[in-house]
This record gives sequence, structure tokens and C-alpha cells, in this order.
Amino acid sequence: VAKDKITINLIDRKGEKHTTSANIDDTILDVVLDNELNFESFGVCEGTVSCSTCHVIFEDGVYSLLEEPLMDEMDMLDLACGLTETSRLGCQVYLTKEMDNCTVTLPREITDARDV
Ligand code: FES
Repeated sequence: VAKDKITINLIDRKGEKHTTSANIDDTILDVVLDNELNFESFGVCEGTVSCSTCHVIFEDGVYSLLEEPLMDEMDMLDLACGLTETSRLGCQVYLTKEMDNCTVTLPREITDARDV
């Protein structure tokens, strides 16, 4: 693992684990796109905070390391299906080196806020 790369494990909607090498300062959405993971309907608004399909669930310890969500993200998260205490929008979370080896889980169900 190079200095500015970390490992992120992503659990897809079927429960399958994908181990990826990710750049610090990229978003979770970037990691999904860069690794061509093609998760069903993930990130359809391309990071413009208007869909909530990039909803992901963090582990407690990692969640507490993240910057607070901005108002836009909170509004959009409210519309996400299966919201948890450690839910965030993948397009709004930037990777830091402390997140190395963390596991990020996609909820099984998704809502596209543009359809609500
Ligand atoms: Fe649409 Fe994140 S990609 S809100």
C-alpha cells in the first residue's frame, strides 16, 4: 500500500465484500466509480447531493472520525431508506488515513430522492 492509498472494504447490496485500494481525499463515491464496482443505482446524481442513492453505513468507530454532515446532506439522508445512526452519503465523505481498512456497507434498499 502506497503512502497516500488506503484500503476500503465495501459490502454491496447482496452482502458481498469488495476490497479496494482508495486515494486519501477521494469520496466513497469516487472509490466506487474508480473501481468500476457498478453497484445497483449507486450515486445516480453524480455527487450533487440530490438522490441519496449513495447512502452508506459506517462502523461506529469510523463514523465518529468523520466531519459533521452539512445541511444538504442531512436533508437528503432524511429521505434515505433504512437510515441508521451511522449513515452518511457516500458522495460527501472524504477518505482520511484513519479510515484505512474500514468497512462500509451499502443498505439493501435504496430510494432515489428525485422520485419522492
Ligand atoms: Fe446523489 Fe450522493 S450521489 S446524493
